[in-house]
Amino acid sequence: MKKIDVALGLQWGDEGKGKVVDVLTPIYDIIARFQGGPNAGHSLHFDGQKYVLHTIPSGVFRKGAVNIIGNGVVVDPRIFAEEVAELETVVPDISARLLISKKAHLILPTHRVLDAAQEASKGSGKIGSTLKGIGPAYVDKTGRGGLRVGDILAPDFRARYEAARDIHLQQLKSYDFTFDLAEFEAGWFEGIDSIRRFTLIDSEQVLNDALAEGKSILAEGAQGSLLDIDFGTYPFVTSSNTVCAGACTGLGVAPSRIGKVYGVFKAYCTRVGSGPFPTELFDGDGERMRKIGFEFGATTGRARRCGWLDMVALKYAVMINGVTELIMMKADVLNDFDTIRVCTAYEADGGRTTTLPYELTGTLRPVYREFAGWRCDVSGARRWDDLPPELKSYIEYIENECGAPVRIISVGPDREETIER
Ligand code: GDP
Ligand code: IMO
Ligand code: MG
Repeated sequence: MKKIDVALGLQWGDEGKGKVVDVLTPIYDIIARFQGGPNAGHSLHFDGQKYVLHTIPSGVFRKGAVNIIGNGVVVDPRIFAEEVAELETVVPDISARLLISKKAHLILPTHRVLDAAQEASKGSGKIGSTLKGIGPAYVDKTGRGGLRVGDILAPDFRARYEAARDIHLQQLKSYDFTFDLAEFEAGWFEGIDSIRRFTLIDSEQVLNDALAEGKSILAEGAQGSLLDIDFGTYPFVTSSNTVCAGACTGLGVAPSRIGKVYGVFKAYCTRVGSGPFPTELFDGDGERMRKIGFEFGATTGRARRCGWLDMVALKYAVMINGVTELIMMKADVLNDFDTIRVCTAYEADGGRTTTLPYELTGTLRPVYREFAGWRCDVSGARRWDDLPPELKSYIEYIENECGAPVRIISVGPDREETIER
């Protein structure tokens, strides 16, 4: 039987998963998102245009590919409807290309209010959430109080919605937080009507049948491994399993059905929101990365924190995910740096460690290894042989450390600015 390949982020999100999935889509029949929701922002560039996807899989622009929103995803109908409306100008047959799992959970307007109220109550301990209601929606899912996409077909859906909403309104009484639900609710129900235009499926059955028929499937992750609810920098994480195992639970495919695991990482590191980031730069180098790499959130527009590649964290992510192929993004952003640094260990009062500690506290000092920069523009490179020797050495070092080959090197945002090996 065919296996399902997985593409996921190895850092704190925004690695460039959207671009990678778009580039890989031509060799797959189906692209399936397995977790997260509209907290994600996946950017794609082609034909001189930029598109940002939040809930819809990144294979949607390629004719012939079927896109599936899996059971592990949380869907905000209002944001979904806006995304569909924007896409319809470019992908008029979107309702034929996109299927939605009945078991995906719905983000209610009151989930968003709860997210905002909870963040506001945290003071300096804020997660830096995208405030899309992700945490509260997953809490309801695991607490067995959630509403699922399939429920919109039930005759008493409105009553079920109101019951769930009223529980949230009770919870909100314990926060000093004002909000206006009426406007949110109207847009939400319009969004539900938009979802009704799509085919709702038992995606686990559809995907396993497709594998049995020999179809090729790529699972698309959102966020990154260091934002995983179990293995990320808890509590500064998202509320789902972003790692490879999340593709099994988020799509209903058995672990033995997982094939290639593409681990996507940037040539450096970024993080948006709060939480530890040992290699973060507060100097001109960090500012240059942010400016050249245009490191501003695709969902919230927030400036992303930038820093050097963290090999300790990258190796941890490779281990947890069982990465078989690495994909390095944004090599071009480091074009002008004389020296490139990579964190190979952390130093703390108790000594040096090369494995990820339980907590990444602010007292950890990164130990850096230096590499010579390539000091030339690599954005025109299309083959491995076009790359400067310094960049090749950097990539080979990463391959050796991680024990997996770098199969794709991205040298610009456009789908063409890609080197496959
Ligand atoms: P995702 O969430 O993992 O899909 O990543 P985002 O789309 O949030 O962030 C990645 C950003 O980097 C987007 O603006 C992409 O257009 C851009 N990008 C992707 N690959 C490259 C690359 O190789 N070079 C440059 N300069 N930008 C890239
Ligand atoms: P993509 O798929 C980067 C971060 C938020 C916050 C934390 C929790 O584009 O890579 P949440 O809204 O989930 O409660 O936020 O996770 N975060 C992301 N950071 N890329 C993302 O998605 C993210 N999704 C959530 O900034 O720190
Ligand atoms: Mg993103």
